[in-house]
Formats: sequence, C-alpha cells, structure tokens
Amino acid sequence: DEKTQKIMDEVVRLKKEKNAIILAHLYQRPEVQEVADYVGDSLGLARTAANTDAEVIVFAGVHFMAESAKILSPDKIVLLPEIEAGCPLADTITAESLRKKKAEHPGAIVVTYVNSSAEVKAESDIICTSANAVKVVESIPPEREIIFTPDRNLGDYVAKKTGRKLILWDGYCNTHQRLTPDDIRQAKAEHPNAKVLVHPECRPEVVALADGVFSTTGIINYVINDPGDEFIIGTEAGIMHQLTKKAPHKKCYLASKKLICPNMKLTTIEKVKLALETLEPQIEVEPEIAKKALQALERMLAIG
Ligand code: 13P
Repeated sequence: DEKTQKIMDEVVRLKKEKNAIILAHLYQRPEVQEVADYVGDSLGLARTAANTDAEVIVFAGVHFMAESAKILSPDKIVLLPEIEAGCPLADTITAESLRKKKAEHPGAIVVTYVNSSAEVKAESDIICTSANAVKVVESIPPEREIIFTPDRNLGDYVAKKTGRKLILWDGYCNTHQRLTPDDIRQAKAEHPNAKVLVHPECRPEVVALADGVFSTTGIINYVINDPGDEFIIGTEAGIMHQLTKKAPHKKCYLASKKLICPNMKLTTIEKVKLALETLEPQIEVEPEIAKKALQALERMLAIG
C-alpha cells in the first residue's frame, strides 16, 4: 500500500545517506526483500557481508546471520533491526555443551552449521551452510571422526550423501520440522506433475520423498533452470517472493501453510527504517570469540 511504499522510499534514501547496505535472507517479508541490495541464502549473505565496501550493514535476518557478518567484517557497523530475531535451532547448542561432546570424541573434527552462536562457532573447526555442507564434509580426510552440529536433519542428509558416519547433535529447525510426509503426499496428489524441492533442514522422511534437496538459493536456481514448470516447495514461505519474481512463468506451490518462521517475520520495514535512523541495535562480538569463529568461517569460505 501507499504507506508501506513511503517507508520503503525513505529506507532507500537513508541507505545512501548512511552509506549502508541491506542484506536480506530469502525468508524475509516481501517489502523488506524489495529494499535490499542483496537477497539470498546464508552462504551468499555471508560472502556479501565479507566483501562489501559499505560502512553499515543492515542485516534483515536472524541474530546468528548478523553475528557472522560482524565476524567477517569487524570494522563495519552491523545492525539487526529486531534484536529479538533469534533462531531456536542455534539455541539448541552452547559452547559448553559442545566442549563436553568434544571431550567424549577427542580428535574429532567439528563441523558446525552456520545456524549457531559465535561462541559455538569459536569451538568448531569449520562452518557449513545448507549450500555447502556436503562439500565441507567431503573436504575432511576419511579417517577423521566428524561431529556435526547442531541440525540433525541436515546432518542425516549429509551423512547419506557422502557415505560418512557423522556424530550428530539433536537440534532441528521447528519450522522445517513441521513439514510432514503427509503434507508432501497431499501436495503431490494435488499437483501430480510437479517436482518436489525441499530444504535439507526437513525431516529425513520428507527428504526421501523429494526430487531435489537444496539451500534456498539452490531451490530458486533449480526452478529457473529446470525445463519443468511445476514445483512443490518445501521450505519457508518467504522464498515464494523471489520465485514469483525470478521465475514468473513457473508454477510454484508451497508444500504447507505451516512453513512460516516467526523469527524471520519479526523484521518489519518500519524496524529497518528505525535501525537506519538510529544506527541501532548494533551487533558486537567479543574479540577473542570473533577471532576463533572467523577461522572456522574462513575455512568454509575457502572451500568455495
Ligand atoms: P539457507 O539460507 O542456507 O538456504 O538455509 C535456510 C535457513 O534455514 C536459514 O536459517
């Protein structure tokens, strides 16, 4: 509407005034995606944060993403418009609980999903995202034991894909976990010609029914490039905005109405505007933690 458009115009103006860049995850609200300089998956966002010349990064996403941006670009001001935007999956593991696990498996390599706190990253050897988890695990010598944290569904997918035995953590994403095999069967019954594309945070029983398993950017690229024209999408609803924009002639159906991440929706266009006006709330990471977490993140980025 007109009011939203006015706020969006003001955000674009403020962005230039403050030499700021807005990075938005694909799960963000459409109007927030529309004002962003870059919209993508966790890996694309981390790379963009690491390489920007802007003085200010406004992170339209959740806390761990802004924290990673600060670690990769410590000299920038990193803003998280809604400081309460967290990740229940990231909260399933603490540095202390990971240290305990490491003590049980001395010599194991710790691969940690980017959906984790800076403290947990600092206790890890290498980070991965859903886009590169298979590659990251494949980069580890076969004789080494691997602890994979905290997403057990992504871990299960990677273990099957690589044939590696992984020591898993018991975390999962509440939003993806809500998608059931029955939801997929029902969507397939309604759209028998559609291919099923799901995110690897989905349950193994859902992944088993999919034609393709990708990160959010991976799903979008698949839809754009595949000759098929109907797709059932098993990830958070926010992805539908870019699918409609980038593949307007394809028919994409969200696999379930339940696929909404409440934390991703906390960031509103009003809060993005306020963050740019006040340069708050800023994300800070303790230097000792940041230094160790950066090593783990850089090992991931070096894998390409
Ligand atoms: P990607 O950003 O890697 O697609 O993962 C989505 C997600 O669940 C982020 O929390």
